[in-house]
Amino acid sequence: MKSLGVGLIGTGYMGKCHALAWNAVKTVFGDVARPRLVHLAEANEELATLRASEFGFEKATADWRALIADPEVDVVSVTTPNQFHPEMAIAALQAGKHVWCEKPMAPSYGDAERMLDAASISGRVGILGYNYIQNPVMRHIKTLIGEGAIGEINHVRVEMDEDFMADPDAFFYWKSELAAGYGALDDFAVHPLSLLWFLFGHVEAVITDMVKPYAERPLQQGGRREVENHDLASVLMRLHGGISAVLMANRSAWGRKGRIALQIFGSKGAISYDQERMNEFELYQAEGRGTEQGFRKILAAPAHRPYGRFIPAPGHGLGFNDLKIIECRELIGAIAGEAASVVTFVDGLRIEKTVHAMAQSFHERRWVEIAS
Ligand SMILES: NC(=O)c1ccc[n+]([C@@H]2O[C@H](COP(=O)([O-])OP(=O)(O)OC[C@H]3O[C@@H](n4cnc5c(N)ncnc54)[C@H](O)[C@@H]3O)[C@@H](O)[C@H]2O)c1
Repeated sequence: MKSLGVGLIGTGYMGKCHALAWNAVKTVFGDVARPRLVHLAEANEELATLRASEFGFEKATADWRALIADPEVDVVSVTTPNQFHPEMAIAALQAGKHVWCEKPMAPSYGDAERMLDAASISGRVGILGYNYIQNPVMRHIKTLIGEGAIGEINHVRVEMDEDFMADPDAFFYWKSELAAGYGALDDFAVHPLSLLWFLFGHVEAVITDMVKPYAERPLQQGGRREVENHDLASVLMRLHGGISAVLMANRSAWGRKGRIALQIFGSKGAISYDQERMNEFELYQAEGRGTEQGFRKILAAPAHRPYGRFIPAPGHGLGFNDLKIIECRELIGAIAGEAASVVTFVDGLRIEKTVHAMAQSFHERRWVEIAS
């Protein structure tokens, strides 16, 4: 495989995750060429220069368009706030670069469509940062479902909760602006939606309720500002094949730090998983004597691929950043034309469509069918 020249736009929470992944992918997987960390862009020169030296990039700029124009850059990581994704991703694709864009695709459906169009026209790879599908445990859950280990699936429940917006006195920032999206739905619910897509296919119908726990927040510079979107969403859904599902997303849920609790019920058993305990899952199979029936806890191990690429010992555990390293390896595979387990812009657009259908359902107080 050819060595890829990497450009990174944004160096906050996700920017660092992408930088770690680009730095580690060769060490972990071995079977790819070591990426070359070519160009990094931040909002100002000083921060860009500092981060370039910390993350190991050769060039730094405060002008992301200069990064995109750089002929040595083959692939661009877009890790800026949501509202910048369309402009940056489309410009990168039009310049012939592959794109690894953080989720969600874009606050507006029209912009997400334009991103897909740009990827289709360019013939370059465009994927989204839906890292939770990369967990070796999640991949094994998918295998078990496919093998019929818990029979015909009839009901799925998924809850995504964090508490970074639980404090009513937390400062207003970009995530509370309507420009960044609906709130819990596209900031949060898109992750469980990526898992539902990965395991069961696309959502077919939704009915939603949304809540704004705090109507306004203090501003860092003094004064207060109205919260423009909803921190909490509850959704009833029909999945492909008529499976009933419930999704709840709350970014003001005190005590929950990174919960994505998934329960899958079938005709012969059940599976339970929580991202806060991402190195294990529970399997219930309705067989054997009733006196010993119960959930079995299964710890992540080299048998759950690609766990063994990181650690040869079972039960030692991977971390959040490791999911990004796996995602990075899948992206490199997709660029090389291999079959890859990623959320492409095609499937990402369907996730966006689902989110907009959820918001429409809330505003119109009714079920909304999602056309394929
Ligand atoms: N995949 C995940 O699990 C996950 C988790 C958190 C956030 N995200 C997504 O990642 C994206 C970024 O979120 P974050 O939490 O990293 O935000 P952040 O605020 O920590 O970082 C964003 C960075 O972008 C930089 N930036 C802003 N405008 C820029 C510009 N014009 N040019 C260059 N840099 C610019 C900012 O200075 C900042 O460093 C969002 O879309 C978010 O939804 C994904």
